Formats: sequence, structure tokens, C-alpha cells
Amino acid sequence: MYLPTGEAFKTLHEALSWIMLAMVFFHVAGVVVESRVHHENLVMAMITGRKPGDAAEGIPSSHRWIGAILTLGVVAGALWFFQGKLTGSPARPYLPFVGKALPDNKTWRSECGSCHLAYHPTLLPVRSWKALMDRQDDHFGEALGLDATVTAEVFKFLQDNSAETGLTEPAHKINRFIPKDATPLRIIETGYWIEKHRGVAEGVWRNPKVGSKANCGACHLDAGRGTFEDAAMRLPKWNRRPD
Ligand code: HEC
Ligand code: HEC
Repeated sequence: MYLPTGEAFKTLHEALSWIMLAMVFFHVAGVVVESRVHHENLVMAMITGRKPGDAAEGIPSSHRWIGAILTLGVVAGALWFFQGKLTGSPARPYLPFVGKALPDNKTWRSECGSCHLAYHPTLLPVRSWKALMDRQDDHFGEALGLDATVTAEVFKFLQDNSAETGLTEPAHKINRFIPKDATPLRIIETGYWIEKHRGVAEGVWRNPKVGSKANCGACHLDAGRGTFEDAAMRLPKWNRRPD
């Protein structure tokens, strides 16, 4: 369950990460200045563990082995984290954050995922799903023609996991941004979706790999799971040529 109280912590976390970046900058700048002022190669000293100077001021050991093990750990960690990127593995194109698994339903996935991505129930409120299921013969120019039993099962799944449940952060925000008297039939017409995609350049939408704004999977590798995590976003290249 996504809690709006987490918002404050998110802001704090963001501020802390900027402070951390500033510290990294000053730390590196310090190394450069120190090296220049004292004419000693600090970077080399970090690698070799040796510095010219008085033997009495030296430390007994530079703990090479510990250093080597820590370095190896960092390299191994980086390789593990970026393995999808390095191997280009289609099974795990992004790593490691895939988010929690959301509720799934076989009937919904096969009936609502045959023409387009099976849009996860969390992306619209119940009244929108109800309106979509009620007008099956006029589904964006297509007729769905599901029988009563299938319709009931699919609708129950949509209802149980709709945006109102706040199962994900986008679910919570999609629901909050829709006026109470509005029943959007498209996710891409919700205020939250529009706001979030305002910054996407026109040229990106023109990329043939995207095709439609509703082709969420072109940019969100976890669209099928419904999680829409930041870490699973990959923008396709610009298509500079206007068509
Ligand atoms: C026969 C093909 C077909 C099936 C099956 C189908 N749809 Fe669609 N759906 C479409 C088309 C076509 C569009 C319009 C796509 C576009 O404009 O890019 C659409 C669009 C949508 C949209 C709007 C997406 C957006 O934000 O623009 C939703 C929501 C949706 N469908 C839900 C469903 C659900 C729920 C089911 C299962 C009950 C379903 N669809 C089954 C053809 C289908
Ligand atoms: C052309 C690429 C593209 C397509 C297609 C696309 N998105 Fe996005 N989406 C983005 C980008 C880029 C962002 C990040 C915007 C930002 O955070 O500034 C984003 C952000 C989001 C977010 C917010 C994620 C977060 O945590 O900040 C959600 C939710 C989302 N998209 C859902 C969708 C859905 C649902 C669809 C399909 C109906 C879709 N997107 C289609 C590119 C795309």
C-alpha cells in the first residue's frame, strides 16, 4: 500500500542525495587542491598506500588485502547490478529493481492483453473500468463481445485492484488527480498521466517504436507488471525527422 506520508521522506531523501553529491564534489576538489598545494600525488598514494615523508609518521600497514577485498566487492557489486545492461539479456534488461508483484488474473490478462498491453487495474478508478466494460461494443472502434461470466470475472479483478486501492504510488496519484465527477476512459487522459509526460519531447512520441501514447511498454519495461517504477524506465531515441 502506498502511503502519502512517504512523500515527505522522499523529499528529504532527495535533499540528502544532493548534499551527498556536493560532499563528493568538495572531497574530490580537496584532493586536487591538496595535491597541488603540497606537491604530493595523493591519488597514487591511495593506490599504493605509500607517501614520501618521515618514517616515524607512517602507519605500520596500508592493509592492502582489506583494500583489495573491498575493491573486488565493489567491482562485483557493479557487475551484478549492471549485468542486464552488459549482456543485453532480454529476460532481465533492467536490474535489479523490479518492484513488488501486483495481483494478476489469467482471464483478464488474456482477454484484455490480446490487442494491447493489459493495462493494470491500478491505472484507472472503478467507475472508469465499469464504463469501459459497459460499452464493450464500442471499445475505441473495436467490439470486445465478452460473455457475461468472463465480463464478471474481469470486472471483479479490475474492481478489486483499481486505482482507489492505492496499491502503487501511481495508483494513488492517478486517483487523487481525477475530479470526482469525471470518468476518464483513457489512462492518457488522466491529469496525473498528462502531468508526468509533459516533459517527454515530441520527437520521442514520433519514434516508430512508440507509435501510440498508450503503448506504455515502449518506455516502461515493467508496464506488463503494472508497477511503473522509475528504475524501469527507458526512453527510446528521438525521431528528429518530422513526418
Ligand atoms: C479487439 C481488441 C481489443 C481488446 C480485446 C481490448 N481492447 Fe482496449 N483498446 C483497443 C483499442 C484499439 C484501443 C485504442 C488504442 C489507442 O488509441 O492507442 C484500446 C484502448 C484501451 C484503453 C485506453 C488506453 C489509453 O489510455 O489510451 C483502455 C483502458 C482499454 N483499452 C482497456 C481494455 C480492457 C479492460 C480490455 C479487456 C476487457 C480491453 N481493453 C480489451 C482494443 C482492444
Ligand atoms: C515515450 C515514452 C513513454 C510512454 C509511451 C509512456 N511513458 Fe510513462 N513516463 C515516461 C517518462 C519519460 C516518465 C518520467 C517523467 C518524469 O518523472 O519526469 C514517465 C512517467 C510515468 C509514470 C510516473 C512514474 C513515477 O514514479 O514517477 C507513470 C505512472 C507512467 N509514466 C505511466 C505510463 C502509462 C500507464 C503509460 C501508457 C498508457 C505510459 N506511461 C506511457 C515515458 C513514457
